[in-house]
Amino acid sequence: MKVAVLGAAGGIGQALSLLLKLDLPAGTDLALYDLAPVTPGVAVDLSHIPTAVNVTGYGKEDLNTALAGADIVMIPAGMPRKPGMDRSDLFNINAGVVKTLAEAIVEQCPKALVGIITNPVNTTVAIAAEVFKKAGTYDARRLFGVTTLDVIRAETFVAALKGKNPTEITVPVIGGHSGTTILPLLSQVSGVSFSDDEVAALTTRIQNAGTEVVEAKAGGGSATLSMGQAAARFCISLVKGLQGETVNEYAYVEGAGEHARFFAQPLVLGKNGVEQLLPIGQLSAFEEKAMNDMLGTLKADIALGEEFVNKN
Ligand code: NAD
Ligand code: LMR
Repeated sequence: MKVAVLGAAGGIGQALSLLLKLDLPAGTDLALYDLAPVTPGVAVDLSHIPTAVNVTGYGKEDLNTALAGADIVMIPAGMPRKPGMDRSDLFNINAGVVKTLAEAIVEQCPKALVGIITNPVNTTVAIAAEVFKKAGTYDARRLFGVTTLDVIRAETFVAALKGKNPTEITVPVIGGHSGTTILPLLSQVSGVSFSDDEVAALTTRIQNAGTEVVEAKAGGGSATLSMGQAAARFCISLVKGLQGETVNEYAYVEGAGEHARFFAQPLVLGKNGVEQLLPIGQLSAFEEKAMNDMLGTLKADIALGEEFVNKN
């Protein structure tokens, strides 16, 4: 098994790589790639941790070697937000980053499972899909926008409000990964109940949690440590799927298209990536309205990514 992390020297990349060095199965090759010259050093640093995961680091010129034969590619490469920015403000820089990396994946590991973390996720996933489609390598089961952070935040905030252990709370989060497109389904949380005011306040907090971190870091970037953990959890679920386990996760994928071409939803992972798309279940009137209100934004975000590849 080979896992490649693109953007491995960044805030998310280093946290993710550390957790993967600790948690990947023995014998896995972990390839770290970043434009930053420190990247081979990050790999040497991690290689001194005594686990049977083989870490190698690759600089700017070595993208192809880093990707060659990878089974899983995790992509946290690109610019993070500063206070006052929306995720969509990152499009101008990050669209090109994801396009370039996706083109290299086509050449080096077209069958890899690809997890995209780079914002704006609603759009960058569409960019990767269109690059793969143009090259004739697209398999919707193998491309994921990583929305695990929305799920773990929702679980943390619900547990804190209700005095529960967060590991015992499950909160479905569907839609996309920005603002109102992030839709927690609080009506489906079992073992707790919410007043209408609590639903409204919690929904807003979950939707704005990224901004909460951006503002608290005051110009020093966005979520890196919680995202590192979220990405590691998702990557390990991909690994377990490839090893034949069936694992349930949420991710932003191209599904049946009832709501939008790409949509974060519950799914089952297996040997081919997405084995099964699960239904989103019954929505409350509040959630139904929130979903209808945000679909226009989500579809426009997706169209922007599609146009970026098809016009260039
Ligand atoms: P960072 O600036 O700390 O790290 C980004 C890294 O990407 C840097 O090391 C940089 O050198 C590298 N990079 C830039 N262009 C590259 C390229 N073409 N090839 C390889 N590496 C390249 O940023 P960060 O805090 O780690 O965030 C990274 C991205 O993840 C941002 O776009 C951010 O908005 C996004 N993000 C997404 C989620 C999510 O839930 N999906 C959560 C947090 C952050
Ligand atoms: C997050 O949700 O923390 C990330 O998407 C980063 C951001 O810009 O908010």
